[in-house]
Amino acid sequence: MWSISKYLLLAAVVVCLSVCFRLYSQLASLNITTLIHHQFKASAPPPTISFYKLSLQWPPAACHGMYTCKPPIPSDFTIHGIWPQDSNDEPIPPYNKNNPCTLKTPTPPTDLPIKLRPIEVYLTSIWPNLVDGLNLTANYQFWEYEWKKHGTCSDYPDDPLTYFKSALKLRLGIKTIVRFGRQTSWTVKQVADEVFHVLKAYPQIACNLNPSRTQKQLWEIRLCYDRPNPGQPPHTLINCTNILRVSKGKIIGPCKSLSDTIFFP
Ligand SMILES: *[C@@H]1O[C@H](CO)[C@@H](O)[C@H](O)[C@H]1NC(C)=O
Ligand SMILES: *[C@@H]1O[C@H](CO)[C@@H](O)[C@H](O)[C@H]1NC(C)=O
Ligand SMILES: *[C@@H]1O[C@H](CO)[C@@H](O)[C@H](O)[C@H]1NC(C)=O
Repeated sequence: MWSISKYLLLAAVVVCLSVCFRLYSQLASLNITTLIHHQFKASAPPPTISFYKLSLQWPPAACHGMYTCKPPIPSDFTIHGIWPQDSNDEPIPPYNKNNPCTLKTPTPPTDLPIKLRPIEVYLTSIWPNLVDGLNLTANYQFWEYEWKKHGTCSDYPDDPLTYFKSALKLRLGIKTIVRFGRQTSWTVKQVADEVFHVLKAYPQIACNLNPSRTQKQLWEIRLCYDRPNPGQPPHTLINCTNILRVSKGKIIGPCKSLSDTIFFP
């Protein structure tokens, strides 16, 4: 009896020593440079989501100057994406495992065909890629791109179904965005005021150019939503900070002023 426990004790000591030795050699292989590097990475704070931007594109404009689209071209605003933005109205960068924005493991884009299967028909109808909207493979490429770029550091990094559903729900909740007819021209300010009258919140307006690059067109209307409480999807409309597109403090895109005239094709 006594000698068996002695062997057990000896075995325990041997196991412990080998674990300690492995830990020690792991520590020894970390030089100062890598230690500082790890420390630095761990302390770099990920950007904080301030609000969400729902980007709605006007297919007749996008398909006239930006993309060559296979018919049918939808004649209602379709979703381009739902983007978490920081307090400077810059997009939250996509997931980066060297500077992770979340402790969760984001769902890989390759999982979307399984995860989004239950809402595929709704996505195809109101969130299509515009180049080949009835081609499911091309649609998944578009959704995977949006997920990778804007979903993996959203509030739903491991829940693409909720992320995509949240945009569908917001879009379906908006019957009217602008009341003016097609083939008309307005200033950027008039379009923004019209959206404000209909929805009680100022949008961001994105323009593109027609194929001959002679005319500015209403390409997108983007709506801004307060960052929701944890566990809730975005729902409260707020005024967008910038009616014109701004990146790093500079106006970008063809529309440079609220008084620019834009065509609604
Ligand atoms: C420390 O480790 C890094 C990465 O493993 C290596 O690139 C670097 O040369 C090492 N520095 C020293 C002083 O050993
Ligand atoms: C659908 O889209 C994919 C990806 O863009 C493409 O490779 C494929 O040829 C398309 N299918 C058809 C029938 O056009
Ligand atoms: C949006 O801006 C308008 C005009 O400045 C203001 O009257 C309105 O209260 C604002 N709405 C919100 C939700 O902040």
